[in-house]
Amino acid sequence: MKSRGKSKGPAPRALKVKVKKKGVKNSSRRWIERQLSDPYVHKAKAEGYRSRAAYKLIEMDERYNLLKRGQKIIDLGAAPGGWCQVAVQKVGSTYEAPAVVGIDYLPMDSIPGTTILEMDFLDDDAPDRLIDALGGEPDIVLSDMAAPTTGHRKTDHIRTMHLCEVAADFALKVLKPGGHFLSKTFQGGTEADLLGMLKRNFQSVHHVKPPASREESVELYLLAKGFKGRQENNAQDERD
Ligand SMILES: C[S@@+](CC[C@H](N)C(=O)[O-])C[C@H]1O[C@@H](n2cnc3c(N)ncnc32)[C@H](O)[C@@H]1O
Repeated sequence: MKSRGKSKGPAPRALKVKVKKKGVKNSSRRWIERQLSDPYVHKAKAEGYRSRAAYKLIEMDERYNLLKRGQKIIDLGAAPGGWCQVAVQKVGSTYEAPAVVGIDYLPMDSIPGTTILEMDFLDDDAPDRLIDALGGEPDIVLSDMAAPTTGHRKTDHIRTMHLCEVAADFALKVLKPGGHFLSKTFQGGTEADLLGMLKRNFQSVHHVKPPASREESVELYLLAKGFKGRQENNAQDERD
């Protein structure tokens, strides 16, 4: 794998690429132009990351100091694997003793230091399978899960918010005290109930828009830092 020492520093500059080929649909043309013009796409390729999304995690980690050597990590919605690559590198996970477990219903190529579960996180047995594969409680639950787009913005929004809520629920059940939860959400999308629950159970809660998240996208990340632990009172709160 290529060196990744270049990820620090200012966000890469935008390029401007135009596709002139005839017979290409306008929507495909726009997608190709956006990919070719996107400096994060080029950077990911040059630095050996499987996705430009890797830089979102790198940037959030640089700002909030989340990933540390020796931690155990669960990555929900892991394919194609950019976040797993970053996590493996940061926590020092190895092939012999993997400390990163990723789950996705899409197949993904293996990453040394990561155990990959190819299954739907919403399946009933996914939580137990994740904890079994990790061999203990995680220090961090990451979720970059996004529901497949239907073209109907409100439906997409609701389905991705649902994934965020189920991920938060899982994090509350499995995190080590002091652990963190980081999940994709949408601007204006985090329900008051979910925010309230996170604020009661974590030392601090933040909304983060990393530079690598496209400006025009309503994507946002929800970061809950410093899990207070599963105290009896909190558990009762969540049941009420
Ligand atoms: C934005 S991509 C993740 C990119 C990844 N963080 C990376 O760095 O390569 C979102 C992923 O969430 C996955 N996903 C969505 N819903 C899921 C579910 N219910 N269970 C498992 N994976 C899911 C999708 O298949 C998709 O691969």
